[in-house]
Order: sequence, then C-alpha cells, then structure tokens
Amino acid sequence: MPPTTTAAQSLWLADLPDTRYPAPTADRAFDVLVLGGGITGLTTALLLKRQGARVAVVEAGRVGVGVSGNNTAKVTALQSTMLSTITRTRGAEVAGEYARRSAAAVELVAGLAAEEGIACDLRRRDAFTVAVQDPDLGTVEREFEAAREAGLPVEMTAAVDLPYPVAGAVRLADQVEFHPVKYVHGLAAAVDGDGSRVFENTRAVRVHDGSPVRVDTTQGPLTGGRVVVATHYPVWDRGLYFARMEVSRSYCIAARVRGEPARGMSITTGDTTWSYRSAGDLQIVLGQSHATGARGIDASRYRAVEEHARQHWDVEEVTHRWSAQDPTPYDHTPMIGTYTPVSSRMFVAAGFSKWGLSGGTMAAALLADRLGGQESTDVFSPHRVSPRGLPQFARMNTKVAVDLIGDRLVPGQIASAAQIPPGQAGVVRSGADRTGVYRDDDGELHAVSMRCTHLGCLVRFNAAETSWDCPCHGSRFDVDGNVLEGPAVDPLPRRNPPAQA
Ligand SMILES: Cc1cc2nc3c(=O)[nH]c(=O)nc-3n(C[C@H](O)[C@H](O)[C@H](O)COP(=O)(O)OP(=O)(O)OC[C@H]3O[C@@H](n4cnc5c(N)ncnc54)[C@H](O)[C@@H]3O)c2cc1C
Ligand code: FES
Repeated sequence: MPPTTTAAQSLWLADLPDTRYPAPTADRAFDVLVLGGGITGLTTALLLKRQGARVAVVEAGRVGVGVSGNNTAKVTALQSTMLSTITRTRGAEVAGEYARRSAAAVELVAGLAAEEGIACDLRRRDAFTVAVQDPDLGTVEREFEAAREAGLPVEMTAAVDLPYPVAGAVRLADQVEFHPVKYVHGLAAAVDGDGSRVFENTRAVRVHDGSPVRVDTTQGPLTGGRVVVATHYPVWDRGLYFARMEVSRSYCIAARVRGEPARGMSITTGDTTWSYRSAGDLQIVLGQSHATGARGIDASRYRAVEEHARQHWDVEEVTHRWSAQDPTPYDHTPMIGTYTPVSSRMFVAAGFSKWGLSGGTMAAALLADRLGGQESTDVFSPHRVSPRGLPQFARMNTKVAVDLIGDRLVPGQIASAAQIPPGQAGVVRSGADRTGVYRDDDGELHAVSMRCTHLGCLVRFNAAETSWDCPCHGSRFDVDGNVLEGPAVDPLPRRNPPAQA
C-alpha cells in the first residue's frame, strides 16, 4: 500500500507564518550573535535580550524550518527512558539535575508563551512512558524510580489514553503540548526590535574567534562580543562534536480519525518505539526510527507508521507526513557550554536526543545565565568525559570506521544508468570513483560524487526523502548535492550524468 499522502510536509510547517525577516544591511555589530533560528537559538536570544543585550539571530533559511518545525511537539520532563538512561551513564545526581532543569524548561515555555502573548495552541497534557508488553514493565519501573528520585511527581498507572491495552506506564501530569512553529515565530517577533534583530536567509559560513568574534555569512560579515552556535548540528568541526554524537531519523504522520484521538502524550518502550499525541481532530504517530544513512530506506517507513495508525484508530485520511533527525550524545546528556575547552566567547547547545523542545529551552536558560555572569552548572559541558558512556562512544566510532571502509569494499550495485527507473537512484562505478545517480520523474539524471564532503564516508540513497544520507555522522544532501543537514558544509561535487547505454 503506498502512503495515502505523498506531500512530505510537517503538520506544523503547513502553518508557517508569512512573517519574513530581511538579511542584514547596515547594522552589523551586536553584543551577542546567535546562529540558528530554532527553539534553542531564539529562546537564548530572547532571554539575553531581556537581560539588556543587543542580540542578532542569524538563520540560514527561515525561522522554525529546522527540526523545531519537524517533531511531535511534546514539551515534557518525562522523556521516554531518559532519566534511567542518564542515571546509568552519568549517575543519579546528573539525572536529577537534568530532570529539574527539564521541568523548569517546561514552565519556561509556558511562561514565555504567556508573557509574550504567543498564540501557539499550548495545552497542559499528561505525559506517559508506556510498557506495552509485560517484559517491558521493568524498563518502565526503572524510569519511574529514576524520575521519583529526581524529584518529579510521577506515578505508575495502567490508565493510559491509548486505544489498545498496555502493561503499565509512568505518568507525569501537567506537561505541555504546543504548536512549535507558532511558538518559535512568537519568540522571533519578541526578539526582533529595540536594537536586536532576526536575520533570515543568512548562513554563517566561517567564524573568527577574536574580540569581537567575526562571523562571515552569505550576506557579509557580522560581529558579536559573544557567539552562540545553535545550528542543531554544530557547524564547524573544531569542537569534534561529530565524534561524540550519533544521529537518528524518525517518521511521523498526522491522520484525521473518526472518534477521539488519544489526548495524552505517550511514548512506548521496548523493541519498537511509537510516540503519540493529538492536535485537534488529528492523531499524530511517530515510529520507524533508524540511524541516519542506514541502507535500504524507502517509503515503507511511512507505510509502516500509517499501518500502525490504521490498526489502532479509524483513520479517515492521512493529512501530513514528515521525518527528521536529531543527534544523541554518547552519554545521553546534551552538550551545553563553551565551543571548545579554551573558548571564552563562543558557546554551543546541541545533542538533545529528540527531546530538544525542552532541552533547547533548558540550554537557553543555562547559556543566558552563563553569558549574563550568573552561576551556572558545568554538568552539561561539551568537554566532559563520561567514563560509563565510553563503551557507547567506542561502539559509535567503530561503526563509523566500518561504514567508512566497508562501503568501499562492496561493489557498486549497478553498472549502467539505463537501469535506473524514474524516482530511484543507483551507484555507477568508474574505476575507484563512485557516482550516485538519481533519475527524476521526468527521466532526467542527477549525478553527484558519493564521497561525503565532511570526512569522506560514502553516502547512501534515502528513497523516503529523495536524499543522499551519510551513515557516518548524519550529513544529508539533495540529489544535486546541496547540503540539507550538517555536519557537512560543502555540497557533494556534481558529476556529468553517465551514458545511458
Ligand atoms: C522526529 C522527531 C520528533 C521530535 N519530537 C520531539 C518532541 O516531541 N519533544 C521534544 O522536546 N523534542 C522533540 N524532538 C527534538 C526537537 O525537535 C529538537 O531537538 C529541537 O527542535 C532542536 O532545536 P534547535 O533549535 O536546536 O534546532 P533547529 O530547530 O534545527 O534549529 C537550528 C537552525 O539553525 C539553522 N542553521 C543551520 N546551519 C546554519 C548556519 N550555518 N547558519 C545559520 N543558521 C543555520 C537551521 O536552518 C535551523 O533553522 C524531535 C525530533 C525529531 C527528529
Ligand atoms: S557526515 Fe561525517 S563523513 Fe559524512
């Protein structure tokens, strides 16, 4: 069964406001430059502006079009099994710090929405971490214990707002659902003005860490006393973030259902993760997660999510589908602090493990304290070493080495472009060189070098998104080689389409 909707656009971006922010002109010197117009960058900018700083947000595209516009929009301190995982990787104290700051971030989102008058469909909802089968109950109970020890008012329950029976769940009441694109556009409106600015269609391409810091952008240079890199995946490799995070994609649909959608915000544990929330008469379902750049990715991912929805709800129509990715650090806690161990003017916030609506808000509060000269914790410093996370670190980097070398050893799948049907891609080999060739629906061939411009791994075709994705650190490119997501910053070189014979 093909997916019922082929329009791959997030429910939230369907409501992208018309508001546009021009690129920089004369005004180019600020107290702080914040790179990235997602929830992390805009919240940081607003908090700094409230402290009296002149701030500029520098956004490569339009505000909110990054992962902040492509998620399930739950803002909660109960985040699947995060707290028991952090307890394992970094101990109960760090899990407690993370839980308290996540809970504060949920309230900060609600507070900023109220104070700035942001109409973003914000509602209080219960959050659930669910064991569907009895064998998963232990996992959920561990999360309950970790959350309780961290001071969250959780309870165990079997009463979960889902249309199928479950073995049990942890429940945390009074969390938040919202419309993330309306929210971040509300933040942008609050940032822009009184000397602070939001610049769209302005990509940061280089940084010179001096006093002030100079950032070269596609629209000319800008300077800031300090710079916050909130570009989702940190641009520039000097922090070696790529070696400490791995990236995973997930697939979402919104479906109009007959009867009531599930109003709670739940996520299942166990071998298969499903995540649910509602938006009006729509049921949102997320699933089918995989490491970015995995082999054999195609539209069957969306089909599987849709089939799951149809199994449990009376689906009238699938209205939206979208997919996105987020990096997870090897020890499962975000990276918030100075860009390198020796930076004093450059800061970063990244690695939110698919919980960055609260995590990015938490990072903003921490960075605003830090830049404002207040006491701030070092628990999330990007330069920490977490001994209990080292086996995961080793596994991640072994996988990168295998992907880097292994793909070069397997032969190209096909030898001739003539064998590539419309809408599909293949690998055409010429000597040691590999060209990725995609044939569009009009029959035109698009050919690019398959060598990722980040560190040289071979990209793989993602037929679900029509992109070339890198298995090593998650960079993505369109069929003409343009960068869709970093850490790569340079396009894949274009190649002449091979002969059709
Ligand atoms: C499928 C999925 C579901 C999720 N669901 C949830 C959820 O329910 N709850 C939750 O808390 N979290 C969720 N998340 C995670 C959350 O959406 C992200 O962690 C969060 O939005 C990250 O925000 P950000 O501002 O850091 O990144 P982004 O929103 O991606 O913003 C970064 C911005 O930087 C810009 N940029 C990039 N490079 C440059 C450059 N060189 N110069 C200038 N600008 C640049 C980009 O255009 C982008 O707009 C989910 C993630 C995924 C993948
Ligand atoms: S993303 Fe690092 S090599 Fe491709």
